[in-house]
Amino acid sequence: TESIRLRSYLFNYPVNRPRRLRSNVLIRNMVAETMLRPDDFVMPIFVREDINEPEPIKSLPGQYRWPLNDKILNFVDQLINSGIKSVILFGIPEHKDEWGSSAYDEHGIIQRTIRFLKDSFEDKLIVMADVCLCEYTDHGHCGIVKRLSDGKYVVDNDSTIELYAKTAVTYAESGVDVVAPSGMMDGQVKAIREALDRAGFSDVIIMAYSAKYASSFYGPFREAAASAPKFGDRRSYQMDPRNAHEALKEVVMDINEGADIVMVKPAMLFLDVIRLVKQNFPEIPLAAYQVSGEYAMLKAAIMNGWLDEKKAILESLIAIRRAGADLIITYFAKDVVAYLDEIE
Ligand code: PBG
Ligand code: ZN
Repeated sequence: TESIRLRSYLFNYPVNRPRRLRSNVLIRNMVAETMLRPDDFVMPIFVREDINEPEPIKSLPGQYRWPLNDKILNFVDQLINSGIKSVILFGIPEHKDEWGSSAYDEHGIIQRTIRFLKDSFEDKLIVMADVCLCEYTDHGHCGIVKRLSDGKYVVDNDSTIELYAKTAVTYAESGVDVVAPSGMMDGQVKAIREALDRAGFSDVIIMAYSAKYASSFYGPFREAAASAPKFGDRRSYQMDPRNAHEALKEVVMDINEGADIVMVKPAMLFLDVIRLVKQNFPEIPLAAYQVSGEYAMLKAAIMNGWLDEKKAILESLIAIRRAGADLIITYFAKDVVAYLDEIE
């Protein structure tokens, strides 16, 4: 407050004219605080087991479910050529069951995709893989469902994290660079870190979905991955959107358990949380996930001609970086790298 009082003496018209620093593009660029770089973006990719051709995703115009063949290779090759350095994989398996067993099958869709991409692109690409069970369970919950009497159920924490650990080890054996647990079970990072260490993969990076909120903005993703819960919802494990400070508890726990990168998700709706986490843990790389619903919302307005495509996308990503995110997972990754040179 003292410094604000002082500054109010300093900054007065006509001595100060903020417009001087906005007068042309070179000046604006010189004093710009926030940058976007291709290295900051992670592109989400859906891989589906039982198809041969890419399948357009209705809820995510411009996005596809990819088959595990030369089609995905061409796509990733284009990404790399455009400057994208990393992808995060989501699997859509042929077989789903109560326990999500396809998730930790060493010949599962993600395990095979990791090997395929690593064989083809080696160190030109960072391969990340989401670790969760909701795409693999027939009920669509992120863990093992225990039925209680009178029709109630719980998603059982401690048996679920064992399966996440098992999944993460099979990803590591396939050559993954980064595992990203997204199920919001307590102790999931610890279980994965211990299992990776025991299996000899102490260099695998863990990017923890630390502050992942129960959000309606995951809707288009769940349609894409056929992973919506068949009963109930995810509010007993994902965070309550009414809570900001609780994010710090989740972040502290994940750092203690061995996370290298923490995440806030969704992004545009939780810019305050991004700022809070970055201010409290400036030394920990922070990711933000601009989720499917955020993409769909922007895309719909763009397709209707209500928003300018380049300007709206760039502004949304700048906002996420300005709030404090170091890296951004976004379905716009591929498009946006083409615009970066045009920022003025
Ligand atoms: C899996 C997972 C989800 C997302 C990322 N990992 C779906 C969910 O939690 O229901 C959402 C990503 C998006 O909406 O783009 N747990
Ligand atoms: Zn899940």
